[in-house]
Amino acid sequence: MQHTSEPKRETFSGRRAFIIAAIGSAVGLGNIWRFPYTTYENGGGAFIIPYLVALLTAGIPLLFLDYAIGHRHRGGAPLSYRRFNRHFETFGWWQVLVNVIIGIYYAVVLGWAAVYTYFSVNGAWGDKPIDFFIGEFLKMGDISQGVSFEFVGMVTGPLIAVWLVALGVLALGVQKGIAKSSGILMPILIVMFLVLVVSSLFLPGAAKGLDALFTPNWDKLTDPSVWIAAYGQIFFSLSICFGIMITYASYLKKNSDLTGSGLVVGFANSSFEVLAGIGVFAALGFMAVSAGQEVSEVAKGGIGLAFFAFPTIINQAPFGEVLGVLFFGSLTFAALTSFISVIEVIISAVQDKLQIGRVKVTFIVGLPMMLVSVVLFGTTTGLPMLDVMDKFVNYFGIVAVAFVSLIAIVANEKLGLLGDHLNETSSFKVGFLWRLCIVVTTGILAFMLFSEGAKVFSEGYEGYPRWFVNTFGWGMAIGLVVVSFLLSRLKWKNEDTAVTGE
Ligand code: ALA
Repeated sequence: MQHTSEPKRETFSGRRAFIIAAIGSAVGLGNIWRFPYTTYENGGGAFIIPYLVALLTAGIPLLFLDYAIGHRHRGGAPLSYRRFNRHFETFGWWQVLVNVIIGIYYAVVLGWAAVYTYFSVNGAWGDKPIDFFIGEFLKMGDISQGVSFEFVGMVTGPLIAVWLVALGVLALGVQKGIAKSSGILMPILIVMFLVLVVSSLFLPGAAKGLDALFTPNWDKLTDPSVWIAAYGQIFFSLSICFGIMITYASYLKKNSDLTGSGLVVGFANSSFEVLAGIGVFAALGFMAVSAGQEVSEVAKGGIGLAFFAFPTIINQAPFGEVLGVLFFGSLTFAALTSFISVIEVIISAVQDKLQIGRVKVTFIVGLPMMLVSVVLFGTTTGLPMLDVMDKFVNYFGIVAVAFVSLIAIVANEKLGLLGDHLNETSSFKVGFLWRLCIVVTTGILAFMLFSEGAKVFSEGYEGYPRWFVNTFGWGMAIGLVVVSFLLSRLKWKNEDTAVTGE
């Protein structure tokens, strides 16, 4: 599609640069700290079935769809949706705002991981890693006593540092910043991670951990929440349906093999995930055997895995410091390339709308976000805030916007156009089966949204006070919809750029 009046859009130098940047975006916290425990908790070896179904029928088809939207319309998320139909612009802003929320907390975890790489060497957490993390490191307050915004120096400094590094990369642009940094960080990450996984396999007890991870519990397959977990994992981990892949694909040159690239990215991401499962559970097996416990007693995901379990493993393992640097270093690099992609969605959208230079827009977007990130999460209330926002932005942000935008695309009969666009330049052709997968996934998203919504609405979330969940969970999720609608009403700097495509 031609948009002759717009300024020249930045591009990746080629398909290889794009693929590495897209894998950099996909491989992140979702792979390292979320996948292993999600698998363990949801049927172990049996989870492979819902996982593969979700990957093949939802993950890869929606990855193709995101590529087609961004590449065909050559814009960030709001512009790309607007070029379908001007009423769709809201969906694009909704995705942008999802990235605002993810960005402000992702930076925090990235900051923690960077500091913990250093702590692995100096052993700052001593022999009580949990007390250290909650008490000394985060100085976490009790939210039942209200919210306190007391700054925690140890957290705030690194948080500002990771923001400045990411903004520096983003200011350099798509090829010189995003592609170059991924080109450097991804090979280092892969080597570090492979060494970590192989070393973990030699720890005493590793086999016990792998047994716990892979022993299938087939009964779990009848539990809908296991299927929801598989779909949730795929969406977050592949960075689909929240604007990232739309944005990255918009920087691809005209004749690019979209589906071929998508297959490489999708399978690379899943391979990394499985590798992470093996490494993490081998290490947890060692932890269990060392403590004379069962793996079920030590297995954790997310923050518990990285900041409670791993420091314990590092304390006990031979060459623990090296394992620590490899683990937290990998977490830092993986999270950094994902974080950069999250912020790029916002930069690209604002740049399209206001038509201002990259360096300027990077700091107009980045500095206020850094401030919010520091105020909300660099303080004693950071941890519960992060937990609630992560849950709500995933289910009532990503899943909700995916559901609504897919309905709009399907109902307006745009799938055919996008399929044709993919087939024009791609090696792997899509057809009826691809369209069917998208329609079926739309139904599954509706189920996820309503079943999870009903559950959290009636039971609350993780025992946090209602007011807290209502404000930072539901309030935030609803706020995103309202603000995205308002943003879509703002005038475009260059109306020509924003013409409706059809
Ligand atoms: N895809 C990124 C992750 O897995 C956001 O963390």
